[in-house]
Amino acid sequence: MSHATGNFDPMATAREGTYWQPFTANRRLSANPAPRTVVEAQGAYYKTIEGNRLFDTLSGLWCTPLGHAHPLIAEAVKTQVETLDFAPSFQLTHPGALQLAQRIATMAPDGMNHVFFANSGSEAVDTALKVALGYHRIRNEGNRFRMIGRERGYHGVGFGGMSVGGIVSNRKMFAAGMMPGVDHLRHPYVPEKVAFSRGQPTWGAEMADDLERLVALHDASTIAAVIVEPVQGQQACWCRLWAICSACAKFARGMAFC
Ligand SMILES: Cc1ncc(COP(=O)(O)O)c(C=O)c1O
Repeated sequence: MSHATGNFDPMATAREGTYWQPFTANRRLSANPAPRTVVEAQGAYYKTIEGNRLFDTLSGLWCTPLGHAHPLIAEAVKTQVETLDFAPSFQLTHPGALQLAQRIATMAPDGMNHVFFANSGSEAVDTALKVALGYHRIRNEGNRFRMIGRERGYHGVGFGGMSVGGIVSNRKMFAAGMMPGVDHLRHPYVPEKVAFSRGQPTWGAEMADDLERLVALHDASTIAAVIVEPVQGQQACWCRLWAICSACAKFARGMAFC
């Protein structure tokens, strides 16, 4: 199959660097784009423009966990596009979104029964931070504006996500746009302790105790939300954070844990 459209030569455009890609060494990619230009995907494999097969170990950056080109998904997408291809989420609603919201609310823990859809993780994180701030403000607790993130955490490319995240290069480059009032827990990635370990770690809960220190420093009544990745290979640490947030919530109603 040809992947050129009319006179369009994808490799020439890739070499010119017209397309800027996130978290990518763009100059290196432009210098030799063919091995990393994918043109088809089926199941767990991509096919490159040179005809090589690549095993997709990332499930398309976690967007295709059921495999590429799954016939049921292709059919469902086709049916939906032919029935109702797009409806604005401003002021209009439609059965597909309502049904998905209802299914997610049914699966979520008790008390989590409202669903807001976003187009990406970055947008979802910024929205969650806004929900936390808006929630406290509406309850006349606008003084709760502090966010607690974690060093090395990744929460996307929006200013909110970068602020609560702990990716040094982002924080350095965009320092002028960081949200105010954000503090960070230490990260639990200590290779000599976590490398080649199995099962639940016996170590690391003390990292979560950092949260108690930050609560003591800022006072729980100023903290709007705590945000950490739930899966970082340090589940014990996550449980401990949950316990601290719950304890704080008892005394200072409403501290959220995202
Ligand atoms: C915990 C977490 N938050 C936010 C994001 C950003 O998601 P997206 O790339 O869809 O903007 C990611 C992406 O890997 C993530 O792992």
